[in-house]
Amino acid sequence: MQVVARPQELRERVAHWRRHGERIALVPTMGNLHPGHGSLVAEALRRAERVIVSVFVNPLQFGPNEDFASYPRTPQDDRELLEQLRVEMLFVPEVEDIYPRGQVSTARVHVPALEDILCGAYRPGHFMGVATVVTKLLNIVQPDVALFGEKDFQQLMIIRRAVTDLYMPVEIVGVPTAREADGLAMSSRNRYLTPEQRVLAPRIYAELSRARAAIEAGGEDYATIERSGYEALQQAGFRPDYFSVRDAATLADPGMPKDSARELVILTAARIGRARLIDNIRVRPR
Ligand code: PAJ
Repeated sequence: MQVVARPQELRERVAHWRRHGERIALVPTMGNLHPGHGSLVAEALRRAERVIVSVFVNPLQFGPNEDFASYPRTPQDDRELLEQLRVEMLFVPEVEDIYPRGQVSTARVHVPALEDILCGAYRPGHFMGVATVVTKLLNIVQPDVALFGEKDFQQLMIIRRAVTDLYMPVEIVGVPTAREADGLAMSSRNRYLTPEQRVLAPRIYAELSRARAAIEAGGEDYATIERSGYEALQQAGFRPDYFSVRDAATLADPGMPKDSARELVILTAARIGRARLIDNIRVRPR
């Protein structure tokens, strides 16, 4: 596996592949890789001849009181995993490579309708930071296809919207959420959980599943379904930020039910101890 840090060097190596007509896939990550990232890489290997994984803990997407400094960094383990997966190239830029004039004065990408709702309401500036760094990574690598997890559903929608609206010539592929055997969505932040909290954590997926079952059974009172999910998590010991039923295509409030052709998504974010866990599940109303 080639390991490249400088954007210019990466571009030159990728240009060589492109001249030979090879399809190139990019999997952007912040490292501390787990099998969820592995499933993105596996899908990338199915879709392209050359797979590039980027590992960059992006300071611009962390709030001042968030976990940028303590975000788990495991470069050696990441490298070994990517070697095993037969990834061609690892891109590990430094902060100065991505923000040569500092992150405060960099050009930014906003997706106004989507960046301030749900997680965006609790993490001001977060999705601007994500959209900005993903745009930079896509422009540096210029892949044919880039893969993102459905676990971060709002992030995936924001990236799709930025790519569409800014006419970026790349195909965005969403990959289903990889889960632990007990349903907990895999996440680098799961390592913040104490053993006691780890036992509680699958409750998030359990409550999402319960809400989905209620909607599949014909439940149309989404406000009540949202409230009972929220309160169940609260009673279990979480501090939920939101538990919300939305239109899966727009993230808009679905308002009155009845349109069974429309797919919905139930999303939640809940804090427990040091960790803020997010998850979502899609559902088609009966
Ligand atoms: P990170 O949290 O490292 O996630 C990298 C990619 O892996 C994202 O597309 C995320 O949705 C996906 N992923 C994480 N856990 C997953 C799981 N359990 N199943 C499937 N996919 C999963 O998300 C980021 O990094 C950053 O915001 C990034 C997009 C790299 C921009 O900095």
